[in-house]
Amino acid sequence: MDIKSIEKIVSLSKRRGFIFQSSEIYGGLASTWDYGPLGVEMKNNIKNLWWKDTVTSRQNIVGMDASILMHPSVWEASGHVQNFHDPMVDCKNCKARYRADHIDLSKQCERCGKTDWTAPRQFNLMFKTSLGAIADSGDETYLRPETAQGIFVNFSNVVNTARQKLPFGIAQLGKAFRNEITTGNFLFRTREFEQMEMEYFIEPKESEKWLEYWSQERLNWFKKLGIREEKLRLRSHGKDELAHYSTACYDIEYEFPFGWSELEGIADRGTYDLDQHNKHAKKKQTYFDQANNQHIVPAVIEASAGVDRAFLTCLVDAYHEEEVNGEQRIMLKLSPKVAPITCAVFPLVNKGGLPEISEKIFTEIQTEFSAFFDQGGSIGRRYRRQDEAGTPYGITVDHQTLEDNTVTLRDRDTMEQIRIPSDQTLIELRKKLQ
Ligand code: GAP
Repeated sequence: MDIKSIEKIVSLSKRRGFIFQSSEIYGGLASTWDYGPLGVEMKNNIKNLWWKDTVTSRQNIVGMDASILMHPSVWEASGHVQNFHDPMVDCKNCKARYRADHIDLSKQCERCGKTDWTAPRQFNLMFKTSLGAIADSGDETYLRPETAQGIFVNFSNVVNTARQKLPFGIAQLGKAFRNEITTGNFLFRTREFEQMEMEYFIEPKESEKWLEYWSQERLNWFKKLGIREEKLRLRSHGKDELAHYSTACYDIEYEFPFGWSELEGIADRGTYDLDQHNKHAKKKQTYFDQANNQHIVPAVIEASAGVDRAFLTCLVDAYHEEEVNGEQRIMLKLSPKVAPITCAVFPLVNKGGLPEISEKIFTEIQTEFSAFFDQGGSIGRRYRRQDEAGTPYGITVDHQTLEDNTVTLRDRDTMEQIRIPSDQTLIELRKKLQ
């Protein structure tokens, strides 16, 4: 897949209803995207898989859902007001703006070819907003730039109610906002995005062990989404790359057409966040260590992933082109766990009782799987549409169905079709998807 392929993904996403540009009818808003009917299903599948694997299938991780708006002191205490900056430079000639750490300042401006840069200045990434009707500075706060702080400020509330013992985790999924200097590569870097974050509270002396454990667990999770192993890697951060709160960090990276890039960070945040809130807030957040009869501040290993980046990775990794009988076939080889539609149902023609039988099968499949009923256009075109939507299976009701009560079950990747009894479709799908 070459660098231009991101354009192909953008085009397929629009054509099939995965992603639309935000506010398109008004000319669009740069780097903001809307999830369409297929997009929202696939995004929900990714989020549900994360929630199941992180929260509901584990005994010692609980979930929560904090507000996007928080007290402004949270961001003072967390260090975001002071430290959540990126260095920015402008080209004096054409006014193009770049992140100083993303370009070589001895080289020419990509846009105009001149080498005339402003000095780098620090730019805070948090979006300011005002609370209430009067926009005076006393009522200012921020849209959260990470979901994690909602977990830290609720640490005691969760400990007191969920009765967990160290080590235990608190997980949260939700929107975050950053006024990024440069955006781009479709969903990769946007100003509004969703995070899936889990803070794992531990004895401080165990941080190395749990950092290794969660790095592997999270890498395996991306493999479970069906992403090719050879396109994934774990990379340890150099000291100069670490965020202001972290002492060690791994990135899970994927090899995109634009290079290896971060999908998730697994960071040792130490006791930084709880210590900071303990310094600034009215209520202390500690954990009572019964064995030693003392209050301690636990350390934290954080696993922080972007939903939209996971979504983009699934699309890029699944995109496939091939030639079939002299025609191009485009398909998304999405894992059935992630695909927005599991099975499409097609009557071969729109008469002779075939639509009625198809509808009956569709209704039955829909009780367990995401299904799509398609009776418009030639059967070849309908198959191609579903290939592009990434639908792993298709069931076709044809004339033979009327004679022997069988239907065809088509496999997206091999295009192989087998005949199965029409009352066994649900059972066959269950077998394939277990
Ligand atoms: N709480 C830690 C934290 O927020 P981060 O590395 O800044 O760490 C975590 O962000 C993840 O959130 C990233 O790995 C990425 O997947 C996602 N993310 C961050 N900024 C993003 C942006 N501008 N657009 C899309 N996703 C973003």
